[in-house]
Amino acid sequence: MEINLPDEFITQLSLSKRIVFFTGAGISAESGIPTFRGEEGIWKKFRPEELANFNAFMRNPTLVWEWYQYRRKIVRETTPNPGHYAIVEFENYFDVTVVTQNVDNLHKRAGSKLVYELHGNIEKNYCIRCKKRYDFIEFPENQGAPICECGGNIRPDIVWFGEYLPNDQFSSSENAAEVSDIFFVVGTSSVVYPAASITNIARSAGSYVVEINITETEISDRVNLFLKGKSGEILPKIIELIKSEKAKT
Ligand code: OAD
Repeated sequence: MEINLPDEFITQLSLSKRIVFFTGAGISAESGIPTFRGEEGIWKKFRPEELANFNAFMRNPTLVWEWYQYRRKIVRETTPNPGHYAIVEFENYFDVTVVTQNVDNLHKRAGSKLVYELHGNIEKNYCIRCKKRYDFIEFPENQGAPICECGGNIRPDIVWFGEYLPNDQFSSSENAAEVSDIFFVVGTSSVVYPAASITNIARSAGSYVVEINITETEISDRVNLFLKGKSGEILPKIIELIKSEKAKT
């Protein structure tokens, strides 16, 4: 695939120190994890209000738990793709912060050092009553939703519709966006708030906003540069470019 990287962007890269990657389900699509929206998106088959909210969980903990067990299985069977690894390589040249809406843990598994998870992490769980954490524990399949020793239901540590984002992760992400020189928006439809507001913060603060997506989105006409294509192809190309520019100096 031919990717045209304009001179303005190349100059911007050479002047930049702090880079934020704001990522969504699209960056993990090439690892085989389905996205939420679009033709192949999982919200075409399942409605979020049936599975991804607290009331649904209280009504039918087993249904919701099994849905997350199913997604955990997909996530565990996959590995990070060249898009995730390219972001790790950026750390050789810049101060990098990853702000992700993904719960799949793939940025950390790829090796990114600073990752803020706005929507939680599918590997983690906690008791809704006593808040005891159950991280990275194997729960047997087909045995319904697990119960804590205090008698409360154990739920996945995922931000469901109608719930607040984790305050520390969100405010640290806002700070990173505000001081960023380049802000990449990668593989997200940018329709889920408040997460998507991070891009507005970066733009208002004067960061150079680059969107990478296979299709145009709601924000494409408001970014400095729109790069159309797969993140697993475009991000490694940008790394190649950075390497060849460095070799010249
Ligand atoms: P979406 O499914 O809404 O959007 C995925 C985006 O990735 C779309 O714009 C696709 O065009 C794009 N895309 C697909 N494959 C790509 C590829 N290989 N390279 C680049 N782009 C690609 O996912 P999110 O924006 O992440 O919330 O959705 C936001 C939130 O909505 C999720 O975090 C989730 C969901 O409900 C929770 O689970 C709390």
